[in-house]
Amino acid sequence: MKSKNYIGKIKLIEKINHDVYKLDIQSSLNDCKSGQFVSVLCPNKTLRRPFSICDFDKENKILTILIKLKGEGTKYLSSLKEGDEINFIAPLGNCFEFFKDKNALLVGAGIGIAPMLFLKKEMNERNINNYLISGFKADEEVIEGSDETIVGGSVLDNIEKIIKEKNIDVIYSCGPIIVLKMLSQIAKKLNIPCYVAMERVMACSIGVCRGCIIKLVRDNKIDNFSVCKDGPVFKGEEVLWD
Ligand SMILES: Cc1cc2nc3c(=O)[nH]c(=O)nc-3n(C[C@H](O)[C@H](O)[C@H](O)COP(=O)(O)OP(=O)(O)OC[C@H]3O[C@@H](n4cnc5c(N)ncnc54)[C@H](O)[C@@H]3O)c2cc1C
Ligand code: FES
Repeated sequence: MKSKNYIGKIKLIEKINHDVYKLDIQSSLNDCKSGQFVSVLCPNKTLRRPFSICDFDKENKILTILIKLKGEGTKYLSSLKEGDEINFIAPLGNCFEFFKDKNALLVGAGIGIAPMLFLKKEMNERNINNYLISGFKADEEVIEGSDETIVGGSVLDNIEKIIKEKNIDVIYSCGPIIVLKMLSQIAKKLNIPCYVAMERVMACSIGVCRGCIIKLVRDNKIDNFSVCKDGPVFKGEEVLWD
């Protein structure tokens, strides 16, 4: 589906932990997929702010995003009220690939859980076996919705054991780059495909400015790819991490 500029209305805004807000936005957007993101306009800011799609209610055309407070843009978004308008471009980027008969492990670290929750919902609708494990630094940072939540320790601590116990065939992840890198290395060692949703500071969000470039090794050669247009989902084994 082609991305477009939408003016949506806030249907619900809810504080879900000490610094994360859940925004339900109703607009005329009628389709999007997990892995994709939206780019939101904030007043007095030239650059739009990118946020993963955390849920989409097709019937009521309601899009959900989770906003973790960072700077001025996220502070503004957290101050919106029900009924306020919000200007965003959607749907942006590529999406996760599904495999009907494979057992999937979903790993969300911190706010990286946002696209994993949407992916889990889409897998459940297709009867694809999945297990979502998420990790947070402290109790006040926990976001609900996982099959297993780790607080304090690393989300990767028992990952090899879980992969073996649950006969995992494919991994999907979103979170800090170090988690994505280490998970991709574990997956490579175990010969399991691993899809990572990457984050980069973005300017245009539509593949024009080349500000969000990462390097991939594809077909035995190193090339530049934009996270906003070619991604944000990539195969972990292709990413040049260093
Ligand atoms: C594909 C993608 C998906 C994302 N999904 C989510 C999500 O679901 N929930 C969430 O809370 N955050 C998400 N982020 C991070 C979010 O975009 C930033 O936290 C946000 O832009 C910060 O804006 P600010 O004005 O509050 O902060 P400031 O630090 O004031 O921002 C200054 C500039 O840096 C950019 N920037 C700062 N941090 C990031 C970052 N981590 N990634 C990209 N750009 C950044 C801002 O867009 C802005 O242009 C995502 C980022 C990307 C690239
Ligand atoms: S942000 Fe401009 S090319 Fe990706």
